[in-house]
Amino acid sequence: MDGNGRWAKQHRLPRVMGHRKGVEAVRSMVRALEPLGLDCVTLYAFSSENWKRPQDEISDLMGLMRRFIKSDLPEFLANDVRLRIIGDYKALEPDIVAMLEDALERTAKGTRTLAVALNYGSQQEIARAAARAAERGEVSVETISANLDTADLPPLDLLVRTSGELRLSNFLLWQAAYAEMWFTDVLWPDFTVGHLEEALASFAGRERRFGGR
Ligand code: IPE
Ligand code: MG
Repeated sequence: MDGNGRWAKQHRLPRVMGHRKGVEAVRSMVRALEPLGLDCVTLYAFSSENWKRPQDEISDLMGLMRRFIKSDLPEFLANDVRLRIIGDYKALEPDIVAMLEDALERTAKGTRTLAVALNYGSQQEIARAAARAAERGEVSVETISANLDTADLPPLDLLVRTSGELRLSNFLLWQAAYAEMWFTDVLWPDFTVGHLEEALASFAGRERRFGGR
């Protein structure tokens, strides 16, 4: 999810308004899970490198996170959405950790997954997974995969990045090995279910060979 700041700038609004509008786009993605038949969507909400941002922006983002969980948890429960967190979320403020853990527990039986990457960095995740695999005596593709934060999520099929940037920025590097990519200039706050359907239509037309032929 990229482009909140530029969206705000375009609309001559403070940055936080871009983030706020971005939450609305998140909500429409969650609502699209069932109609689009998606088992899992993973959203990159806060990276381990986002701590480099000014403190007031970090507090705005954390505030939005608190409000989103509070306001949308009933809807997750009503719509059978399972919340998952990837990343080192336990390093967030204690009240957010408690809120997230409560939501994780209460939504655990949901059938469609909304995974949120929080304080997430893919290189750190891989290093943690490799260390755990080593502790258990075998480092291999399988044991690293099994120790990633995403171990219980379906394989990554399609990776979408908004706002015209053409990089992965430490997101799901391992999982993206054979993922299909979709890059769009649309800024995240403007990203709609229609745009997602466009990406899915492109995905559906691709031939995936996973290195075979
Ligand atoms: C993404 O938008 C917001 C998150 C970090 C969740 P940005 O804040 O990176 O927006 P730009 O890149 O400045 O437009
Ligand atoms: Mg950005």
